[in-house]
Amino acid sequence: MQELIYKTIAFVKQELQNAEAGHDWFHIERVWKTAKYIAAEEKVNLLVVEFAALLHDIADAKFHDGDEEIGPRKAGDFLKTLAVDDETIIHVQQIIKNMSFKASLGDVTFTSAEMLVVQDADRLDAIGAIGIARAFTYGGYKNRELYNPEIKPEPNQSKEAYKKSTAPTINHFYEKLLLLKDKMNTATGKKLAAQRHDFMVQYLTQFYAEWNGEK
Ligand code: ADP
Ligand code: NI
Repeated sequence: MQELIYKTIAFVKQELQNAEAGHDWFHIERVWKTAKYIAAEEKVNLLVVEFAALLHDIADAKFHDGDEEIGPRKAGDFLKTLAVDDETIIHVQQIIKNMSFKASLGDVTFTSAEMLVVQDADRLDAIGAIGIARAFTYGGYKNRELYNPEIKPEPNQSKEAYKKSTAPTINHFYEKLLLLKDKMNTATGKKLAAQRHDFMVQYLTQFYAEWNGEK
Protein backbone atom coordinates (compact mmCIF):
# COMPACT_ATOMS: atom_id res chain seq x y z
CA MET A 1 0.00 0.00 0.00
CA GLN A 2 2.82 2.40 0.90
CA GLU A 3 4.46 1.68 -2.45
CA LEU A 4 1.26 2.73 -4.26
CA ILE A 5 1.19 6.00 -2.32
CA TYR A 6 4.85 6.77 -3.09
CA LYS A 7 4.23 6.18 -6.79
CA THR A 8 1.16 8.41 -6.67
CA ILE A 9 3.11 11.19 -4.94
CA ALA A 10 5.80 11.03 -7.64
CA PHE A 11 3.14 11.22 -10.38
CA VAL A 12 1.32 14.18 -8.79
CA LYS A 13 4.55 16.13 -8.21
CA GLN A 14 5.42 15.62 -11.87
CA GLU A 15 1.96 16.68 -13.07
CA LEU A 16 1.95 19.82 -10.88
CA GLN A 17 5.47 20.98 -11.73
CA ASN A 18 4.24 24.26 -13.19
CA ALA A 19 1.10 24.74 -11.11
CA GLU A 20 0.33 28.11 -9.53
CA ALA A 21 0.92 28.58 -5.80
CA GLY A 22 -2.68 27.95 -4.71
CA HIS A 23 -2.86 24.53 -6.36
CA ASP A 24 0.73 23.31 -6.30
CA TRP A 25 2.17 20.12 -4.80
CA PHE A 26 2.26 21.73 -1.35
CA HIS A 27 -1.52 22.31 -1.48
CA ILE A 28 -1.90 18.60 -2.29
CA GLU A 29 0.51 17.61 0.47
CA ARG A 30 -1.44 19.68 3.05
CA VAL A 31 -4.78 18.25 1.91
CA TRP A 32 -3.38 14.71 1.93
CA LYS A 33 -1.99 15.07 5.48
CA THR A 34 -5.18 16.70 6.78
CA ALA A 35 -7.29 14.01 5.09
CA LYS A 36 -5.27 11.28 6.84
CA TYR A 37 -5.67 13.12 10.16
CA ILE A 38 -9.45 13.39 9.73
CA ALA A 39 -9.72 9.80 8.44
CA ALA A 40 -8.16 8.47 11.65
CA GLU A 41 -11.44 9.29 13.42
CA GLU A 42 -13.74 8.02 10.66
CA LYS A 43 -14.75 4.59 9.36
CA VAL A 44 -13.29 4.90 5.87
CA ASN A 45 -11.17 3.10 3.31
CA LEU A 46 -7.87 4.89 3.85
CA LEU A 47 -6.43 3.98 0.46
CA VAL A 48 -9.40 5.62 -1.31
CA VAL A 49 -9.02 8.73 0.89
CA GLU A 50 -5.29 8.99 0.17
CA PHE A 51 -5.63 8.45 -3.59
CA ALA A 52 -8.45 10.97 -3.83
CA ALA A 53 -6.62 13.60 -1.77
CA LEU A 54 -3.43 13.16 -3.82
CA LEU A 55 -5.18 13.16 -7.20
CA HIS A 56 -7.99 15.71 -6.64
CA ASP A 57 -6.35 18.67 -8.42
CA ILE A 58 -4.25 17.09 -11.18
CA ALA A 59 -6.33 18.48 -14.03
CA ASP A 60 -4.51 21.26 -15.83
CA ALA A 61 -5.91 24.52 -14.43
CA LYS A 62 -6.67 25.88 -17.90
CA PHE A 63 -9.02 22.97 -18.51
CA HIS A 64 -10.49 23.08 -15.05
CA ASP A 65 -13.63 25.06 -15.82
CA GLY A 66 -14.14 23.70 -19.31
CA ASP A 67 -13.75 19.93 -19.17
CA GLU A 68 -14.54 18.54 -15.75
CA GLU A 69 -13.88 15.00 -17.01
CA ILE A 70 -10.15 15.50 -17.52
CA GLY A 71 -9.18 15.22 -13.83
CA PRO A 72 -11.03 11.94 -13.16
CA ARG A 73 -9.83 10.52 -16.49
CA LYS A 74 -6.17 11.30 -15.79
CA ALA A 75 -6.49 9.89 -12.26
CA GLY A 76 -8.14 6.72 -13.57
CA ASP A 77 -5.53 6.20 -16.29
CA PHE A 78 -2.76 6.59 -13.72
CA LEU A 79 -4.33 4.22 -11.16
CA LYS A 80 -4.71 1.59 -13.89
CA THR A 81 -0.93 1.66 -14.37
CA LEU A 82 -0.63 0.70 -10.68
CA ALA A 83 -3.05 -2.21 -11.22
CA VAL A 84 -5.48 -0.77 -8.66
CA ASP A 85 -8.85 -2.59 -8.66
CA ASP A 86 -11.75 -1.10 -10.66
CA GLU A 87 -13.98 -0.47 -7.66
CA THR A 88 -11.31 1.70 -6.00
CA ILE A 89 -10.60 3.54 -9.27
CA ILE A 90 -14.28 4.34 -9.86
CA HIS A 91 -14.71 5.53 -6.28
CA VAL A 92 -11.66 7.83 -6.50
CA GLN A 93 -12.92 9.21 -9.82
CA GLN A 94 -16.34 9.91 -8.35
CA ILE A 95 -14.78 11.81 -5.46
CA ILE A 96 -12.67 13.95 -7.79
CA LYS A 97 -15.66 14.65 -10.04
CA ASN A 98 -17.75 15.62 -7.06
CA MET A 99 -15.15 18.10 -5.85
CA SER A 100 -14.88 19.85 -9.21
CA PHE A 101 -16.31 23.16 -10.37
CA LYS A 102 -19.40 21.67 -11.93
CA ALA A 103 -20.16 19.63 -8.82
CA SER A 104 -20.43 22.83 -6.84
CA LEU A 105 -23.22 23.88 -9.21
CA GLY A 106 -25.18 21.00 -7.79
CA ASP A 107 -25.48 18.51 -10.66
CA VAL A 108 -23.45 15.71 -9.07
CA THR A 109 -25.17 13.76 -6.34
CA PHE A 110 -22.51 11.23 -5.39
CA THR A 111 -21.42 11.04 -1.77
CA SER A 112 -19.41 8.67 0.42
CA ALA A 113 -17.69 8.77 3.79
CA GLU A 114 -14.34 8.97 1.95
CA MET A 115 -15.55 11.89 -0.20
CA LEU A 116 -16.67 13.82 2.89
CA VAL A 117 -13.22 13.44 4.47
CA VAL A 118 -11.32 14.68 1.40
CA GLN A 119 -13.77 17.54 0.88
CA ASP A 120 -13.23 18.68 4.48
CA ALA A 121 -9.46 18.54 4.04
CA ASP A 122 -9.65 20.61 0.82
CA ARG A 123 -11.96 23.17 2.45
CA LEU A 124 -9.66 23.50 5.46
CA ASP A 125 -6.86 24.57 3.11
CA ALA A 126 -9.06 27.44 1.90
CA ILE A 127 -9.41 28.96 5.39
CA GLY A 128 -7.12 30.06 8.22
CA ALA A 129 -3.67 31.54 7.62
CA ILE A 130 -3.08 29.41 4.51
CA GLY A 131 -6.53 30.28 3.19
CA ILE A 132 -5.78 33.98 3.55
CA ALA A 133 -2.48 33.54 1.70
CA ARG A 134 -4.17 31.59 -1.09
CA ALA A 135 -6.94 34.17 -1.44
CA PHE A 136 -4.50 37.07 -1.86
CA THR A 137 -2.36 35.00 -4.23
CA TYR A 138 -5.44 34.41 -6.38
CA GLY A 139 -6.44 38.07 -6.09
CA GLY A 140 -2.97 39.17 -7.19
CA TYR A 141 -3.03 36.77 -10.12
CA LYS A 142 -6.38 38.28 -11.19
CA ASN A 143 -5.13 41.82 -10.48
CA ARG A 144 -7.87 42.42 -7.90
CA GLU A 145 -7.94 45.21 -5.37
CA LEU A 146 -7.17 44.14 -1.79
CA TYR A 147 -10.27 45.91 -0.49
CA ASN A 148 -12.67 48.61 -1.64
CA PRO A 149 -15.18 49.93 0.92
CA GLU A 150 -17.54 50.92 -1.94
CA ILE A 151 -17.84 47.41 -3.40
CA LYS A 152 -20.02 45.31 -1.11
CA PRO A 153 -19.72 41.51 -0.90
CA GLU A 154 -22.47 39.41 -2.56
CA PRO A 155 -22.63 36.13 -0.64
CA ASN A 156 -25.40 34.44 -2.66
CA GLN A 157 -24.40 35.05 -6.28
CA SER A 158 -24.38 32.19 -8.80
CA LYS A 159 -21.11 30.41 -9.46
CA GLU A 160 -21.04 31.91 -12.99
CA ALA A 161 -21.44 35.46 -11.69
CA TYR A 162 -18.85 34.71 -9.05
CA LYS A 163 -16.32 33.50 -11.64
CA LYS A 164 -16.84 36.65 -13.73
CA SER A 165 -16.67 38.95 -10.72
CA THR A 166 -13.75 41.33 -10.35
CA ALA A 167 -14.49 42.09 -6.70
CA PRO A 168 -11.69 42.86 -4.22
CA THR A 169 -10.12 39.91 -2.40
CA ILE A 170 -11.60 40.88 0.98
CA ASN A 171 -15.06 40.26 -0.51
CA HIS A 172 -14.10 36.63 -1.09
CA PHE A 173 -14.00 36.15 2.68
CA TYR A 174 -17.73 37.00 2.89
CA GLU A 175 -18.67 35.23 -0.33
CA LYS A 176 -16.92 31.94 0.44
CA LEU A 177 -14.26 31.63 3.13
CA LEU A 178 -16.35 32.60 6.18
CA LEU A 179 -19.17 30.30 5.00
CA LEU A 180 -17.04 27.16 4.91
CA LYS A 181 -17.04 26.45 8.66
CA ASP A 182 -20.77 25.63 8.52
CA LYS A 183 -20.30 23.31 5.53
CA MET A 184 -17.85 20.94 7.21
CA ASN A 185 -18.85 17.27 7.23
CA THR A 186 -16.82 15.52 9.95
CA ALA A 187 -16.42 16.22 13.67
CA THR A 188 -12.64 16.65 13.26
CA GLY A 189 -13.17 18.93 10.26
CA LYS A 190 -15.60 21.11 12.19
CA LYS A 191 -13.21 21.45 15.08
CA LEU A 192 -10.26 22.45 12.87
CA ALA A 193 -12.46 24.80 10.85
CA ALA A 194 -13.71 26.62 13.97
CA GLN A 195 -10.17 27.55 14.99
CA ARG A 196 -9.17 28.64 11.47
CA HIS A 197 -12.41 30.59 11.12
CA ASP A 198 -11.76 32.53 14.32
CA PHE A 199 -8.29 33.39 13.06
CA MET A 200 -9.77 34.86 9.84
CA VAL A 201 -12.28 36.93 11.83
CA GLN A 202 -9.41 38.26 13.95
CA TYR A 203 -7.42 38.98 10.78
CA LEU A 204 -10.31 40.98 9.29
CA THR A 205 -10.67 43.05 12.48
CA GLN A 206 -6.97 43.92 12.32
CA PHE A 207 -7.19 44.61 8.56
CA TYR A 208 -9.98 47.19 8.99
CA ALA A 209 -8.23 48.78 11.98
CA GLU A 210 -5.10 49.31 9.90
CA TRP A 211 -7.13 50.38 6.84
CA ASN A 212 -8.83 53.05 8.92
CA GLY A 213 -5.52 54.27 10.28
CA GLU A 214 -6.21 53.29 13.88
CA LYS A 215 -3.08 53.61 15.98
P1 ADP B 1 -10.62 24.99 -4.43
O1 ADP B 1 -9.34 24.54 -5.04
O2 ADP B 1 -10.50 25.17 -2.94
O3 ADP B 1 -11.81 24.17 -4.82
P2 ADP B 1 -10.71 27.37 -6.13
O4 ADP B 1 -10.03 26.67 -7.24
O5 ADP B 1 -12.01 28.06 -6.40
O6 ADP B 1 -10.99 26.44 -4.89
O7 ADP B 1 -9.73 28.39 -5.48
C1 ADP B 1 -8.40 28.13 -5.13
C2 ADP B 1 -7.94 29.13 -4.09
O8 ADP B 1 -8.13 30.44 -4.61
C3 ADP B 1 -8.77 29.03 -2.81
O9 ADP B 1 -7.94 29.25 -1.69
C4 ADP B 1 -9.77 30.12 -2.98
O10 ADP B 1 -10.21 30.67 -1.76
C5 ADP B 1 -9.02 31.14 -3.79
N1 ADP B 1 -9.99 31.91 -4.59
C6 ADP B 1 -10.90 31.43 -5.46
N2 ADP B 1 -11.67 32.42 -5.95
C7 ADP B 1 -11.22 33.54 -5.36
C8 ADP B 1 -11.59 34.93 -5.42
N3 ADP B 1 -12.59 35.35 -6.18
N4 ADP B 1 -10.90 35.80 -4.67
C9 ADP B 1 -9.88 35.38 -3.88
N5 ADP B 1 -9.48 34.11 -3.76
C10 ADP B 1 -10.14 33.21 -4.49
NI1 NI C 1 -7.72 21.43 -3.80
